[in-house]
Amino acid sequence: MGKLIAGNWKMNGAIAANASLVEAVLAGMPASPCAVAMCVPAPYLAQVGGLLQDKTIALGAQDVSAHESGAYTGEVSAAMLRDLGVRYAIVGHSERRQYHGETDAVVADKARQALSLGITPIVCVGETLAQHESGATEQVVRRQLAAVIHVNGHCISEIVVAYEPVWAIGTGKTASPQQAQQVHAVLRAQLKAATAQPGRIRILYGGSMNAGNAAQLLAEPDIDGGLIGGASLKPADFLAIIAAAS
Ligand code: PGA
Repeated sequence: MGKLIAGNWKMNGAIAANASLVEAVLAGMPASPCAVAMCVPAPYLAQVGGLLQDKTIALGAQDVSAHESGAYTGEVSAAMLRDLGVRYAIVGHSERRQYHGETDAVVADKARQALSLGITPIVCVGETLAQHESGATEQVVRRQLAAVIHVNGHCISEIVVAYEPVWAIGTGKTASPQQAQQVHAVLRAQLKAATAQPGRIRILYGGSMNAGNAAQLLAEPDIDGGLIGGASLKPADFLAIIAAAS
């Protein structure tokens, strides 16, 4: 199983800017790339999906509703994402947990909705700075992942996990390769205990991964790729990370 590099554009983009960003990345893709995805804002899924049609980059969303359909104003369902050709959906990003009150249970239901329609959820886990400093990192990420395992049972081998220490997101502070590897090994062991096919599950690192530090992080045995925020908006940087993973 090769590595996966997923860009998370967050709430950035505009019709014209999206087109130039996608074109620049497509133009610089290596001949044999690792798996690559772009997780774009919902209003641009159709546009970017069109630009990525028959290309080597998969389309991703940044969220999915925990509900199937109905009276949930503003929500986007997994079926709608599938209609638009979405392959991956980020769930439980720390910005959703922090600013939108998403609990472990909601995140688990979102993963279930995605899985039920063949969309791969990229399940984010990670500790805050306070939790990090109090030595609670492993306990926090295990609890977050356990909720998803509990609700999704044997389907768990179809998910992607992203370890994103909250203190490293958008801050320029990266977990050291050794720090990240240690947490990834904990998550790997937890997944091994939960499924007969743990070898299929990628565990990505996210949090200020950039062109300069990607190769070292990706060299760790349990780091199977990256979830890239800021650097995914800069074609040269995103391409350098893809090259390091390919
Ligand atoms: P960052 O964001 O690369 O800008 O730190 C990563 C993420 O939040 O997914």
